Amino acid sequence: MKINTNYTQLKESYLFAGIAKRVKEFSESNPDASIIKMGIGDVTRPLCTAVVDAMKNAADEMGKAETFRGYGPEQGYDFLREKIKDYYAENSVELALDEVFISDGAKSDLGNILDIFDKDNTVLIPDPVYPVYVDTNIMDGRKIVFADASAENGFLPMPDDSVDADIIYICSPNNPTGAAYNREQLTEWVNYANSHSAVILYDAAYESFISDSALPKSIYEIKGAETCAIEFCSLSKTAGFTGTRCGYTIVPKALVSDGVSLNKLWLRRQTTKFNGVSYVVQKGAEAIFTAEGRKQIKENIEYYRRNAKVITDTLDSLGIWYTGGKNSPYVWMECPNNMNSWDFFDYLLKNAGVVGTPGEGFGNNGKNFFRLTAFSTYENTQEAMRRLTEMLKK
Ligand code: MLT
Repeated sequence: MKINTNYTQLKESYLFAGIAKRVKEFSESNPDASIIKMGIGDVTRPLCTAVVDAMKNAADEMGKAETFRGYGPEQGYDFLREKIKDYYAENSVELALDEVFISDGAKSDLGNILDIFDKDNTVLIPDPVYPVYVDTNIMDGRKIVFADASAENGFLPMPDDSVDADIIYICSPNNPTGAAYNREQLTEWVNYANSHSAVILYDAAYESFISDSALPKSIYEIKGAETCAIEFCSLSKTAGFTGTRCGYTIVPKALVSDGVSLNKLWLRRQTTKFNGVSYVVQKGAEAIFTAEGRKQIKENIEYYRRNAKVITDTLDSLGIWYTGGKNSPYVWMECPNNMNSWDFFDYLLKNAGVVGTPGEGFGNNGKNFFRLTAFSTYENTQEAMRRLTEMLKK
């Protein structure tokens, strides 16, 4: 037996698992410390009542012989795919039902999609970035080229025609920086991908946080994207599904490589390796798209937006440079006093009991930056910002 030795090239633990371990060790040696977690982007608002009611009804159906369901379609039930199709149509994106695949979240599909691509492809990944893109490609042994994001380009790198990439990752609004591409910038990426016969893996997990109506919510709002992009979305942050698990992936039928439809390949992959998301969860997800569900999740998103404002107001008053927080639940701040991000992580934890995510965990260009999330409670966000201010004013 031989193992996949590419795994030996990975950092010892996944970023957020490593941070959780560090925080646990700190709590054990400081049992009285009151810790506020603004590290991993996990939500604090409960599921809305429209979702809970739909899930209860679905659970009741599963308990009666006449409405019980066994295996569902691997690519998701039509009742949910229809709702997602209608949601895209609101932004003038016309999808066919079989272009929508229901998943157990964007993270899984972003990793799994690599099954349909050759390991010899070159991958272009922004730095800093959501670590899943890098780690899953290291697991496959693919060549990775980084697109540098920096304060100078607003953490929104643009295509470079001299770089020959086959697979391109874009996350907008971005994790970790919160920066979001506008239409013109995304058009440049789509043109680059089409002219290089490359595919864009577009992570739209934070689209529901876009408040600026000029910013696209989907890459398919850009002309030509249907021939070069796969889009991943998640209900985790939109509707509090981090623990419930549901998302969706769009693979357009116009996306073809050497005469082979990527939609067909993905369907083949999913029907072989995936048995679909549970009926109860998909019924809960369907409820998000009803009028009542939309109203209720909007209240939660507004709650997190208010938290983001508490964070950005604090950074403004401290004169600290940041991106994000406007169209995103993430705020990406420069570490004060030229500290490196892991030193600032330890300093903030020790002196204020606040957990964030060191920028370096997202890539080399994050060395002097730090990510805070707006997903905590309002009270804890206020308290964390009070402690940060007090710590830095000492
Ligand atoms: C994050 O904190 O970056 C996210 O919560 C990770 C994820 O969505 O998997």
